[in-house]
Amino acid sequence: MSEAPSIKVTQLTKVFGKRTVVDHLDLEVHPGELYALLGDNGAGKTTTINMLTTLLKPTSGRFSIAGFDGISNPEKAKSKFAVVSQEVALYQELTAFENLMFVSRLYGLPKEGARERIEQHLSQWDLLARRNDYIGDFSGGMQRKLSIAGALLRSPRVLFLDEPTVGLDPGSRQHIWEILTGLKHEGVTIFLTTHYLEEAELLADRVGIIVRGKLIAEGTIDDLRGRLNHMKSICVRMARRPTAEELDSSLSRLRNFAFGEVSYDELRNIFSIALSNERHLSETLRAVTDWIETEHIPITGVSTSEPSLEEIYLALSHETVPLPKTEPAPAVPVSKEK
Ligand SMILES: Nc1ncnc2c1ncn2[C@@H]1O[C@H](COP(=O)(O)OP(=O)(O)O)[C@@H](O)[C@H]1O
Ligand SMILES: [Mg+2]
Repeated sequence: MSEAPSIKVTQLTKVFGKRTVVDHLDLEVHPGELYALLGDNGAGKTTTINMLTTLLKPTSGRFSIAGFDGISNPEKAKSKFAVVSQEVALYQELTAFENLMFVSRLYGLPKEGARERIEQHLSQWDLLARRNDYIGDFSGGMQRKLSIAGALLRSPRVLFLDEPTVGLDPGSRQHIWEILTGLKHEGVTIFLTTHYLEEAELLADRVGIIVRGKLIAEGTIDDLRGRLNHMKSICVRMARRPTAEELDSSLSRLRNFAFGEVSYDELRNIFSIALSNERHLSETLRAVTDWIETEHIPITGVSTSEPSLEEIYLALSHETVPLPKTEPAPAVPVSKEK
């Protein structure tokens, strides 16, 4: 990577009283990357964002934003990012337009073209028709969108968002996700916190999992999945119950050719192969299709199931707890039609 990291964090620590709430955090976010810091309530996400946005002084450690040291050069660092905090920071007694105009002045943005710029932002968030309404009457989703619009007015290169979609309706969440994805494609570096696994999985290039102030795992969703090879499986749903003889021959055939642990779930009438290694997925799928075709196995579907981020998260954050059993993903029908 030739460019300097947009965010670089070294051994960042915050102690409140005797409690270490953020514990020697190390991370880097590259230009144009969307990084999600994922953790339960109380994990230390807001404390981390508050330190990185210079609202809270770290107990120890360092960080820089766009190459500017956040502790020795906070003003420069501050000029490079915008932040959307968890609590909506808007004036309820002002209209949507007035709120953004206030933000525009606060940032010292040029007066020239301010009106047009604000209208353009309102329009992007489907709020133009509500421009003259007091935001005290807005839904939570609309208020959050307006907060993000405010942060984006100054076209930041780095955007911090603390739980941007918490408590919002599905439509607003979807809209925020779309706009964040668009910003990422424009090259904006985004650092967001979330406790929604789905959100991290959907948006993030990389995810860091924070548990009690410590980063316990980091990587792309695929990297994290790769650490849990055994959690991927192939399931074959039978159209009818196999006879004892069919069951025996199927199990022995699959055990010979498939790479993984083969079992038959009597209750659900499913053969499943827990892959011993994700790399063996295609070979094993081939072995399964061969078995189905040559032995005329009556099936209703074949599916592969991947661990969800939730399972990955649980498995990594409680290493000693056994991995939860996966319900297979919706079946992908395989060559049933004649
Ligand atoms: N100003 C503070 N003084 C003492 N403890 C705090 C303070 N701010 C946060 N904490 C504690 O630090 C922990 C992490 O909080 P926070 O960073 O808000 O977590 P998250 O955003 O992940 O839910 C919590 O246990 C919280 O009670
Ligand atoms: Mg928080």
